[in-house]
Amino acid sequence: MKKLVVLSGAGMSQESGIRTFRDMGGLWEEYDVMEVATPEAWQRNPELVMRFYNDRRKQLYGCLPNAGHIGLFELEKDFDVEIITQNVDDLHERAGSSKVLHLHGELKKVRSQKDPSLIYELDGWELKFGDKCEKGSQLRPHIVWFGEAVPAMDEAVSIAEKADIFVVIGTSLDVYPAAGLLYYTQPDIPIFVIDPHEPPVSGKNVIFIEEKAGRGVEILKEKLKEL
Ligand code: APR
Repeated sequence: MKKLVVLSGAGMSQESGIRTFRDMGGLWEEYDVMEVATPEAWQRNPELVMRFYNDRRKQLYGCLPNAGHIGLFELEKDFDVEIITQNVDDLHERAGSSKVLHLHGELKKVRSQKDPSLIYELDGWELKFGDKCEKGSQLRPHIVWFGEAVPAMDEAVSIAEKADIFVVIGTSLDVYPAAGLLYYTQPDIPIFVIDPHEPPVSGKNVIFIEEKAGRGVEILKEKLKEL
């Protein structure tokens, strides 16, 4: 079976009702990223950071996987599909995808402020001050904030290197190191890009599908039959 590797971003979940970051009306238009998504923000104004992620988590409980997520799960019949996602939602998993690597953390998980190896599933949407790990430290969102290391990156690189087909869905490719994953793919493998606005990817092996994720994955399936 050919290995089909997907790099997904916020646009993947847009049709599920989750806002992207950098589009018009995106989250970073309403919030200053430095005030809610950095370790410094957590030091300075933990209430705001806590509320920001509690709101995101609460909203996620009301969202469902869309046709794009489901289409990627269905591709597992014909391909060894591995998904590397920048998204912190669990919509790929809920659609049934079996191999999902989260580069930027997971909204439904929390971890110890002192010991990053102590990670827990949060029961419900609300993390509170006073919720502590087994060693007594405050729990924080299990999110990779700007300025923090991306622990899953080595694994992501090794997945990207093995791809026979690479698919980029719904990411502006603005944020590194995630955006650099494309550089690790083997030369000349087909690279499909699904996005209503063309992100900065070029090359003769790039096939751009100018669509939202749901319809885009449907078209991708047709194009894969022609390979
Ligand atoms: N289907 C597919 N793509 C879409 C859709 C859709 N329905 N709607 C928007 N898009 C595209 C936009 O055109 C854009 O290229 O999704 C992309 C969203 O880009 P960003 O908002 O920058 O999101 P992303 O690339 O995932 O951001 C990367 O930045 O703030 C951080 O940690 C956060 O993981 C995030 C990272």
